[in-house]
Formats: sequence, structure tokens, C-alpha cells
Amino acid sequence: MLRARALCALALLAVAAQAVHLDFEKGLKGWEHSEESKWVGRFVAEVPGSLEKKALKVPDKAKHYGISTVLKEAVDPAKDLVLQYDLKLGNGLSCGGAYIKFLTADKAFTPKGLKDDTPYTVMFGADKCGDTNKVHLILRHKSPKTGKIEEKHLKSPPFVETDAKTHVYTAILRASNNSYAVLVDGEEKKAGSLFEDFEPAFNPPETIPDPEDKKPADWVDEAQIPDPDAKKPADWDEDAPIEIPDEDAKKPEGWLDDEPAEVDDPEAKKPEDWDEDEDGDWEPPKILNPKCTEAPGCGEWKRPNKPNPAYKGKWSAPLIDNPKYKGEWKPKEIPNPEHVKDPAPLTNIGKVGAAAIEIWTMDDGYFFDNIVISNSVEEAEKVRAKTWEPKKKVEDKEEEEARKKAEEEAKKAAEEGGKDGEAKESSGEEEAKKEDKEEEEDVYADEL
Ligand SMILES: *[C@@H]1O[C@H](CO)[C@@H](O)[C@H](O)[C@H]1NC(C)=O
Repeated sequence: MLRARALCALALLAVAAQAVHLDFEKGLKGWEHSEESKWVGRFVAEVPGSLEKKALKVPDKAKHYGISTVLKEAVDPAKDLVLQYDLKLGNGLSCGGAYIKFLTADKAFTPKGLKDDTPYTVMFGADKCGDTNKVHLILRHKSPKTGKIEEKHLKSPPFVETDAKTHVYTAILRASNNSYAVLVDGEEKKAGSLFEDFEPAFNPPETIPDPEDKKPADWVDEAQIPDPDAKKPADWDEDAPIEIPDEDAKKPEGWLDDEPAEVDDPEAKKPEDWDEDEDGDWEPPKILNPKCTEAPGCGEWKRPNKPNPAYKGKWSAPLIDNPKYKGEWKPKEIPNPEHVKDPAPLTNIGKVGAAAIEIWTMDDGYFFDNIVISNSVEEAEKVRAKTWEPKKKVEDKEEEEARKKAEEEAKKAAEEGGKDGEAKESSGEEEAKKEDKEEEEDVYADEL
């Protein structure tokens, strides 16, 4: 009965979605490091910080790591593909890979033989170095026409979350409508059409500009030219000045022609210690003439200028359409040998047969966990709810506690700053008492 039910459940699973969920509670069981000689990094399974369960840790910086596990059954992207994993950057990510390669199913593959060019179906996840900060989503697509395999990159991918908490990254590839979505912590960060947002495009264009075609030497691409028939009008005076004196202007009433702009300061006094022999003749400092500030102006009145109505500047011929203009030159289009119309790109990226973490990093102390490879968005959601949300609760609480503690310490430090003097005095008293007691003891010792 029980066995029948179990079988029945298995059968249901087989017809329903496939869902592989890989964690590290049992350590690296099922995973194996590559034998590539230069990849000396060795992952370990360890519980991150105050979390409960083991995850896959990058223990040392400045190393190359390679580890993988073969799936019992390959997952076919032609029925949608959902990839997901947790990443916790314990010590940040200054320069390193934190992505997963979902390897293309291949019976000949063994984890020991993992290389940097082992074919993958999808490469997904965090990568950061200097100014580069992206959540890669790269599909290796085989042209159904030429058989050529090309990496198709998601254009302007989302950013990596760089705090020390656990974040969950999800990639959804929908064969049903050729769409994709990238989620971080269950929130959609980028989504759209496979045909629009990847480069190079899954469907290369029908024609391309002929790379051999060159612009002819006599090609005219000046759309307009000065009218060769136009003549400068006889009355056009190129030399007329921009401005002329304004003959209508009148000197304002009350203008003081004979007053200077500045006068000696009547309040200033010669300093007592002024020595005529050494310092020369004393002269009072100048101030603005108070009479001038009251009057419209002082000194010689000058006639202002005004714009010259006869001013025309340099004459130039008006522009006319160039009769020889041939338009902007473009190379001619030729049929694109790469052109193909692949209506279902996800049928040409291969099945996922293994998961590999093959990275080089300048950082340590980061953790991978809960890798999901599935045909079902719901399955990935369930794993998030069961594994990531509890981690989030613990880490959010920890963050809140750390924030409170820091606040209290800052408050305490501020209070103690005020009492500093008192504290020193009392400790001085204690010191004195201690000395007394020691002396007493010495006395006893002598007596004994
Ligand atoms: C594809 O289908 C999914 C689920 O039905 C939908 O959420 C998404 O918006 C669709 N995307 C496109 C580009 O049609």
C-alpha cells in the first residue's frame, strides 16, 4: 500500500514538472572537484554565520575553483527552465565570480574532467569586479541553420546585491512565449522577450550591410549649398557699426559736471605717531563723494550708444537644396549568411545535465546554496519559501539587533563622555584603598 502510494507519487512527479533542488546539508556529497591542475581552490560545506544549515563556502581568496554534480536526469528547457540559487556574500565581492554554469547534458562528462570551456546551456548569476556588476544570463544557442554555437547575453542585466545577507537569484526562461525574467529575492528585476533583449540576437537579421561596399569618391552628401546665383544687394553695407551714439539721449537734470567722484574723508585724522620724515606727508583716505550719490551723476557726461538700425554684418548667400545631393551614403545590404528564424530558441540550447561552479575570485567567505533546476516557476517559489525566507528572517532580526546595539552603545558613549571626570576620581580612590590593604598584608607577612 505504502509502496504503491510512493510509486504513484513518483509517477506524478515524472509527468508533472521536473525539479532538482540541491543543498549542502550533507556536505559535498554528490559534488566533486575538478582535477584541473591550476584550480587549487577547494570548496567546503559550512554553516554561514548564525544560520542553521550548511552551504557551499568559498574558503580562500585569490584562487580558481571548479566543482560540479551530475543530475540524475537532464532537465529540458523546451518545457520552460527555471534556475535559482542563494548567494550570501559574507565578506563582500570586490572582484570575483559568484555564478553557476548549468552544463549541457553529455554522457561523457565527469566532474573530475570539468574545464573552463565545458559546454553549458545557461550561465546564470552574480559577477562583480571594479565597475562591472551584473547578474549574468547567458544562453549557449546552436543555430538550427549553421550549427554554429554562440553565447547570447542578456543586455543590461540587473545588479548584484552586495550586502552580507542571503539573496536568492532566479532565472525564468519560458518556452511557451519565448520570454525571460530575472528575479532577485522573488522580485522581478528584468523581464521581456528572448528575441529583443539578448545579444547577439537569437534571430540574426535577414540582411547585413555589405562590409566590402565603400563610399564612392564622388559621392555628394552635402544636402544644402550657398545659392551660387545670389548676389549681395547694392545697399548692403558690411561696414556699418553694430552701435551708434544715441543722439536723442540728454544729460539728466541736476548732473554735477564739476564734482569729483571721490573726496577726502572728512572724519579721518592723522595718527598721532605719524612721522612726516619717515612716513611722508599724511593724506586722508578717499571716500565716495556723497554729493554724487544724491545727484543723477558727477563728472563729464558721456552720450550712451544704441543699436545701429543700419547694421547688417557680413553678407552670405542663402542656402538652397544641393541639386547634386545623393543622400546619406550607406553600404548596400546583402543577404546575411547567419540569418535564421528560430521560433523556439529554448529547443536549441541543450538539456541541463549538471550544475557547475567554476569561478576565480579575489574574495572569500561567500556561500552558494539551494540550487534549483526545474521546469516549474511554482517549484522554485516553494523552495524560496521553504529555504530562503527562514534565512531572511534570521538575518533581518540580526541586522535589527545590531542596529539597536550600535544605537545603545552610541548613547552610552555620549553619556559617559559627560561623566568621565567622576569615573577617574572614583577609580583613584579604589586604587588608594587597595594599596592600604596590600600594606596591611605586608605587615602580617613580616610578623609571620
Ligand atoms: C509570457 O508569459 C508569462 C506567463 O504567462 C507572462 O507573465 C509574461 O508576461 C509573458 N511574456 C511575454 C513577453 O509575452
